[in-house]
Amino acid sequence: MATIQWFPGHMAKAKKQVQENLHLVDIVLEIVDARLPLSSRNPILDQIIQQKPRLMILNKADLADPTLNNAWINYFKQHDLPAISIDSQHNHNVQQIEKQAQVILADKIARQQARGIKNKPIRAICIGIPNVGKSTILNRLVKRNIAITGNHPGVTKKQQWLKAGKRLELLDTPGILWPKFEDVLVGKKLALTGAIKDSLFHADDVALYELAFFKQYFPERLQKRYSLTIDDLKLNDPDLLMKLTAGFGLREDYERASERLILDCRKGKLGRYTLDQIDEATHD
Ligand code: G4P
Repeated sequence: MATIQWFPGHMAKAKKQVQENLHLVDIVLEIVDARLPLSSRNPILDQIIQQKPRLMILNKADLADPTLNNAWINYFKQHDLPAISIDSQHNHNVQQIEKQAQVILADKIARQQARGIKNKPIRAICIGIPNVGKSTILNRLVKRNIAITGNHPGVTKKQQWLKAGKRLELLDTPGILWPKFEDVLVGKKLALTGAIKDSLFHADDVALYELAFFKQYFPERLQKRYSLTIDDLKLNDPDLLMKLTAGFGLREDYERASERLILDCRKGKLGRYTLDQIDEATHD
């Protein structure tokens, strides 16, 4: 899906639209990118949804570090946010969504049953920033391809409920929130994973962040992928970028070399990774 350019007017409309839809649902499915469980959230959601039950869904788990997927799930659970990780592209764990929704709403369902109301559908909405996989999840759950026409901010249309499981019904229009642009580091993380438009950042800034990240957490992957020596890994980030640029045969075209590094990372050529670290959350 094309990334949206967000303007203050869009943001206000999107917020209002999400607020209006909340009244219609029993539970919110907050979708984040498992590589960015914090940076791909929009804190405004907490303000908007308040006490509404919520399931955090770490999507694209296939691209993220498996150990950190579990660590982040535990982190959210410790903060009273039930969470699961899924890979909606390959349909892995997607069926957990309905099961978990039933667990979260168990008290409400029990109260309904006590009043003689049986098998009332659970109504849900997917909410998240662009590109986290809202449409892919929706299509997986409803088991057919739905053209999500309302999938940009501020566009309203007649909404429908889609059967998304035995008891689950999904609103056909996902709630779209804007990514957090204010923090430079968050911006670089969003850019590296392809969550925001390439024109919003300088490729070399993002590539330098990428090199710093992989040098810190997975130096051996950089070494292997780009045939580097141990000494190369001791270079500072700009010098390493210069070395790689020369190695790619791109002379001094750091822009193109950076784009190539970013693409490798996005395509998984550097393996699975999670950019948000748990200790960053605890320092928030
Ligand atoms: P959105 O509605 O939240 O905006 O996201 P959408 O479903 O359009 O998904 C964005 C991209 O992410 C799509 O790639 C989609 O295939 C991919 N994607 C969604 N879920 C998963 C997942 O669990 N694992 C992986 N690996 N990929 C996933 P695309 O169509 O190629 O778009 P783009 O890459 O050109 O942006």
